[in-house]
Amino acid sequence: MNRKSKRIGARQALICTLSALMTVVASGQTPSAVLPDDKAVEKRVNALLDRMTLEEKIGQLSQLFLFGPSKQVDDALAKGQLGSLLFVTDPARINSLQRIAVEKSRLHIPLIFGFDVIHGFRTIFPVPIAMAASWDPSMVSAAQAIAAKEASSVGINWTFAPMVDIARDPRWGRIVEGAGEDPWLGSAMAAAQVRGFQGEYIGSPDHVLACMKHFAGYGAAEGGRDYDASNISETLLWNVYLRPFHAAVEAGVGSAMSAYMDLNDVPATGNRWLLHDVLRGDWRFQGFVVSDANAVKSLVVHGFAKDLPDAAVLALDAGVDMEMAIGTTAYSQNLAAAISSGKVTVQQIEEADRAVLGMKVRLGLFEHPYVDEARAARALATPEHRTAARVAAERSAVLLRNEGRLLPLGKTAYAKIAVVGPLADSQVDTLGSWAFNEDLTETVTVLAGLRNKAGSQAQLTFAPGVEISRKFPSPFAQLSRSKPPAPWTPEQAKDELRKAVDLAGSSDLTILVLGETQQMSGESASRESLALPGNEEQLLEAVAATGKPVVLVLLNGRPLDIRWAAQHIPAILEAWYPGTQGGNAIANLLFGDAVPGGKLPVTWPRDSGQVPIYYAHNTTQGPESQGKRYWDEESTPLYPFGYGLSYTTFTFSNLHVSQPQFRIGQTAEVTADVENTGPSTADEVPQIYIHQQYGSTSRPVRELKGFERITLAAHEKKTVHFSLGSKELSYWSAAKKAWVEEPARFDVWVGADSQATLHGSFTITQ
Ligand code: BGC
Repeated sequence: MNRKSKRIGARQALICTLSALMTVVASGQTPSAVLPDDKAVEKRVNALLDRMTLEEKIGQLSQLFLFGPSKQVDDALAKGQLGSLLFVTDPARINSLQRIAVEKSRLHIPLIFGFDVIHGFRTIFPVPIAMAASWDPSMVSAAQAIAAKEASSVGINWTFAPMVDIARDPRWGRIVEGAGEDPWLGSAMAAAQVRGFQGEYIGSPDHVLACMKHFAGYGAAEGGRDYDASNISETLLWNVYLRPFHAAVEAGVGSAMSAYMDLNDVPATGNRWLLHDVLRGDWRFQGFVVSDANAVKSLVVHGFAKDLPDAAVLALDAGVDMEMAIGTTAYSQNLAAAISSGKVTVQQIEEADRAVLGMKVRLGLFEHPYVDEARAARALATPEHRTAARVAAERSAVLLRNEGRLLPLGKTAYAKIAVVGPLADSQVDTLGSWAFNEDLTETVTVLAGLRNKAGSQAQLTFAPGVEISRKFPSPFAQLSRSKPPAPWTPEQAKDELRKAVDLAGSSDLTILVLGETQQMSGESASRESLALPGNEEQLLEAVAATGKPVVLVLLNGRPLDIRWAAQHIPAILEAWYPGTQGGNAIANLLFGDAVPGGKLPVTWPRDSGQVPIYYAHNTTQGPESQGKRYWDEESTPLYPFGYGLSYTTFTFSNLHVSQPQFRIGQTAEVTADVENTGPSTADEVPQIYIHQQYGSTSRPVRELKGFERITLAAHEKKTVHFSLGSKELSYWSAAKKAWVEEPARFDVWVGADSQATLHGSFTITQ
């Protein structure tokens, strides 16, 4: 499908088919589709196009949100004038809508049902930034395969994920949906998710079509304000923001979503350079492009299109095959007239149809348009899925501080444990953004998890202490199925705070669960400040003042200003929004039945005044003061990218570069020894960073070029291997307007985070 499989050719396609069939046979499933070859798909699509009217051709390019019954939608389906619906998740409803499309329309073309399956469908996994913190692409792939299995069991064929936007500004609420700041880690997570969602090939049984989004540059919204314009230099666009998208294309992603914002003054949804020249030209992407919701109509708002007819023409011309919209699409209202007036050609419409219909064929929708309604109940939230979600949450947590080895907690060491904080027993806030189809009763809060684990040995008591306002401007608040509790009166607020502090004072240990509510992170959920919301900071300091040991567990989707906690609270565990099994995972981690091994996928700033702040910056004038660029605060982060502690300790030694000097195009092998110097089995994530000392442009002070999550038994030592070749050493040079690998001297480091000190060097010659 993508460039890769095209290159591989028919023989390889046959091998893929056989191996996929073997997997299917081995797992005892019946294949719902078999990998069709490119020629067969083309033939089938052409045969359809020959019979389609113009209205039907345009109709396939429209996708509408559907929240309730709609006569308008039913009519359009019966006329064969709608290609896709999103946000329908009930299998019976999906079947009844599909029946109209397939049985009533002239050419029986099935719909493709889309939904935002971002971090789980019914079983909710940790949010994507958390999963990236696992630095474990195979776990992430397996998690998305489960999400795909659950979603496909109700009849969803297409997920609007993975979101692969690089984000270097934690004020931007959607940082929670991606893999953080780094293109290498982001690319690994992008490819892993595509493989997890789609399986071995598009149309694999129990899988769904993936959609990389938001193409491209959405994460660079000015000021971290969602939907605001992005202005991204050529250097950063190629070397940073576009890389994970390219990785997703290389992994065979079948669709892409065009982003909302202006990219360097040209809206992404009307950006022919992006959608045509880069995506289809340079990268040979063979899937189809859907707009973000209402983004085509927005071309008028941006002052790019003159009016809606113009917006439809510009988006189609740029390369948007399908328009996602609420109510009606600009395509369905305007493209027929645009053809009559010669602004677009029938060939352009057909080209977009080819991409959309080709994907429907590959997904096997023509053969199997309906979902087995009985299967849905069996496939959702199985015990295996819950175990996978718990393990994912354990592997995603990052231990930020552990003074005096307060963690892990001895199971019988504390007779009275206070569990304090507004998020400690909140199911919805344990899940995080983009959980729409969960069953809340299945969600294990931190309090419930701690009770499951330690309730029989210790007396566990709970007090929320403070509340966080749940009145948010986000349109997504309306979609939430949980009703916000009534706000406290001022007297109640005083009372609750006092109760919580008293509880902490009379207990042997306090587990404080702070952070942000679910809706504070995600779309339309940017924050100007990174401070703990509401009166959480006051609660934190008051609880610490009791003098009793305190463990801080953070539930959140972005780094927060925890400068005070980082000085005064001995143990801090970043648990993100950990999902359905979050509470059990956190209890396992706190009591040592799981050992933290996650690492930060993003630089952790001290406060919002420092952002954007990222490890891969350039070295500039006065490097000795690079960490002291402000009058009133250091310009170093609170915690560096890649950072995360364990209950054991690791040492790195013996860095070896196979060739101290080699030619452009050759590859060097880098090895280093990692030893678990502590008493327990645990995971470490060795990371390799390079720095090109000079060249046609200045290069970042460090760049991640490889990583591997490994498990080491107590006192075990392992040698890790990394390769440095053209893939790792080349970059887009804005000076040369080309991808280059340059003769230069390089530094290399291997270690536990982006401040690793184990150093080597090598030289590349012509
Ligand atoms: C978001 C997309 C999402 C779409 C459909 C948009 O508002 O930006 O990420 O896939 O809605 O829900």
